[in-house]
Amino acid sequence: MANLLVLGTQWGDEGKGKIVDLLTPAFDIVARYQGGHNAGHTVWVNGKKVVLHLIPSGILHPGKTCVIGNGLVVSPGALFREIEDLEARGVAVDGGRIVISRNAHLIMPYHPVMEKISEEGRGEKKIGTTCRGIGPAYEDKAARWGVRAGDLLDLSVLREKIRENLEVKNRLFAVYGIAPLDAGKIYEEYAGYASRMAPYIRDISLFLNEEMKEGKRVLFEGAQGVLLDLDHGTYPFVTSSSSTAGGVCTGLGIGPKSIHSILGITKAYTTRVGSGPFPTELADEKGKKLAARGDEFGATTGRPRRCGWFDALAVRYACRVNGIDRIALTKPDVLEEMDEVRICTAYSYKGEVLKSFPAEPWVLEKAVPVYKTMPGWRDSVHRAREYASLPAAFKDYVREIEDLIETRVGLVSTGVERDDTILIESELTGLIDTSSLKLGERK
Ligand code: IMP
Repeated sequence: MANLLVLGTQWGDEGKGKIVDLLTPAFDIVARYQGGHNAGHTVWVNGKKVVLHLIPSGILHPGKTCVIGNGLVVSPGALFREIEDLEARGVAVDGGRIVISRNAHLIMPYHPVMEKISEEGRGEKKIGTTCRGIGPAYEDKAARWGVRAGDLLDLSVLREKIRENLEVKNRLFAVYGIAPLDAGKIYEEYAGYASRMAPYIRDISLFLNEEMKEGKRVLFEGAQGVLLDLDHGTYPFVTSSSSTAGGVCTGLGIGPKSIHSILGITKAYTTRVGSGPFPTELADEKGKKLAARGDEFGATTGRPRRCGWFDALAVRYACRVNGIDRIALTKPDVLEEMDEVRICTAYSYKGEVLKSFPAEPWVLEKAVPVYKTMPGWRDSVHRAREYASLPAAFKDYVREIEDLIETRVGLVSTGVERDDTILIESELTGLIDTSSLKLGERK
């Protein structure tokens, strides 16, 4: 199989960065299709932590091309800060290693201001966004006010678009008593980015389709998670892009038949950062313990993540919406030393038992999880390299999850480093090119 999509099946932060980094050697190109620098993909290499926000995690592997698709919103400032940070670490990013769609929309200085107005206007019901201007940049895209990467290639177009935008935005800011932004200053800043960004800007649809025709293999890298998808997530407490499989085609300009298989990344428990319903949340000492053991702090904003038990309804829903082939189960070591672990198998809502994930936030808010309780595992899973060496209670937990989500686990991540991973041959053969990876079997 040639091309693989890797996406998160929960509310983001499932550990996609590590898995993408691990699988990159089997691919030529790593392509992101949505989101922006709201994402935080953490990769540990030789004991050193690298956090990527905008550039695909494949950048850490020399020779791989990293694509930023039209489905993303790009902050040029954040892009160059990330490039400089990578260069300071000795990662070579030039030579055509980064390509950016000419149709990707730019995050402009007025977007975070619009976001502040929007979030404050919601009061108690605020989304708890990352405050990076992501939502307003997508709003402008849908409202047809957006400035795109390709506009940087003609400075007269750029100047005019900034002028038009500020004419409208400054009128809005005046209503809120916010000082107007200066079109000239913004133009100067973005014209400054233009010459630096121009070499990266391309027709990504053409590039990818030609590369694939030549037999190049593409790893599609999702950001956020299925439950944060604009259409299929827990709306309105979602991000503003399509993080599900459908987003790959619109976000890169490729046909659906170019996605050959899909790997869902799933944490062995559940976390969420920001507001919104979270039925299995543990708002007690157990939740705090999980957060501490799992180092659950947002990679982008540093905010503590809310933690809770595994929600099988949510992950089964993610598998259905995306047609997921296999699951990569991450961070099971965080659950170690618990006397018992719980899996949510259904919700109870107004005397009814719900067996599938509801779309309405008011239902989710009041849904009471129905749990299956299982014995915990005292023996260590941490850094285990063989499936056979895993504790029996953990293997039972995996089997239970597989039955409930109707999808098999093909990979277990047992620690932060690349090698702390068990790849299960019988589950992955045919799904990815495993020739460069060390495989084990499931016993
Ligand atoms: P936005 O993407 O900044 O608009 O934020 C919308 C919601 O998505 C908020 O609840 C954020 O916390 C959440 N979110 C955005 N990006 C990520 C991510 O990479 N991981 C986890 N949550 C995220």
